[in-house]
Amino acid sequence: SEQHAFLAALPKVEHHIHLEGALSPELLFKLAEKNQIPLPTDDPSFASIESLKLRYTRFTCLDDFLNYYYICMNALITEDDFEMLAWDYFTRAKSDGVHHVEAFFDPQAHLSRGVAYATIVDGLNAARSRAESELGITSLLTSCYLRHLPVHESVATFKSPEVQEHYKNGSVIGVGLCSSENNPPTLWSEIFQEASSIGLKLTAHAGEEGPAEYLANALDHLGVTRIDHGIRLGLDHDPDLMKRVVDNNILLTVCPVSNVVLRCVPHISHVPIRKFIDAGVKFSVNSDDPAYFGAYILDCFCAVQETFDLSRKEWETITTNSIEHSWCSADRKSDLL
Ligand code: ADE
Ligand code: ZN
Repeated sequence: SEQHAFLAALPKVEHHIHLEGALSPELLFKLAEKNQIPLPTDDPSFASIESLKLRYTRFTCLDDFLNYYYICMNALITEDDFEMLAWDYFTRAKSDGVHHVEAFFDPQAHLSRGVAYATIVDGLNAARSRAESELGITSLLTSCYLRHLPVHESVATFKSPEVQEHYKNGSVIGVGLCSSENNPPTLWSEIFQEASSIGLKLTAHAGEEGPAEYLANALDHLGVTRIDHGIRLGLDHDPDLMKRVVDNNILLTVCPVSNVVLRCVPHISHVPIRKFIDAGVKFSVNSDDPAYFGAYILDCFCAVQETFDLSRKEWETITTNSIEHSWCSADRKSDLL
C-alpha cells in the first residue's frame, strides 16, 4: 500500500537493537552444529527450528525471553560467528530502509563463557565495515552491562584492559544497562560516572517492566541522555517526571512490538505513543530483539501505524528526532537528514 511504501522509504536509524537478539533460529542451529554446542535436551522447544519459532510466539514475560536469549547466544564462539550474526542483521536492516545503527551487545554474556573480547568486537567490526562499504549503513557499538548479575561483575568487565582499550580506540562508543529489571540502576553509577569521564555515550533500559521510578533513578544516578523503552513513563502517572524528560531533551528508544511480545502491555494500543507525542516526549521506534520477536524495524513501524494512524508529519518528526538524537558525527547527521 501507499502507507507501507511511505514507511519503507523513511530514512531510518535504529537505536535499540541487541545484536545477540538478531540470532535467528536458523543461524543458531547452524552455529550450534558447527561449534558442537549442545542445545538443551530438557526443553522440547529446541527440537527443531520450527518448534523454537513457535515457542518464540509464546513468551510470558521479559525473563522468559531472556532465558532463551542467553542460552542461544552460547552458540556464538568465533569471530566469524559474530560477523555472521551482525551481517544477518545489517542485510535485513538495509531492506528495511535503515541508514544508521546504534547497536547493543552484551560483553559479560560472552566473556563469562571464555570468548575473548577482541573476538566479539573484531567480528562485529568486520560486519560493520562491510555494512558501511557494501550497504552504506553506518553503525556504532554500545556495550551493555547486565543488571541481573552482581554489580561487581560489571565493574570488573568495565575495568578490564581489553574493554578499556576498545573504548579508547573508538570501537565501542557507549555504555548501556540491560537484562532483568531486578536491581535499581543506582548500583551501576560508578561505571556510568567513569564512562562519562572518558567521553562515552550513556543509556540504560528503564521502565520496560519496572516502574517509571527507574527512569528517574537512571537520570539521577547514571546521567543518561537516552532511556531504552521507558514506556512506564507514559503508563504510570508522573507529570513531573514527564516534564523532566521533555525539559532535559531525553530520547526514549521505544520498542512497541517487543512490549507486546514480552507482555509489558496487553496490546500495542497500550504503548503510550500518542501520549508521548502529545506531551512532546521524543522517541525513536526500534525492534529490540528482532529474531526473537519476529519483527524487524519496518514491521515495528507498520505495527505502530496500523494502531495509531500517525500523520506523515508525525512520522517525519519521529525520523528527524531520531537522527538528531543519534550519537554519530554532525556530518553524518546532516547526511541522514
Ligand atoms: N536484553 C535484550 N533484550 C532486552 C530487553 N528487551 N530488555 C532488557 N534486556 C534485554
Ligand atoms: Zn532492549
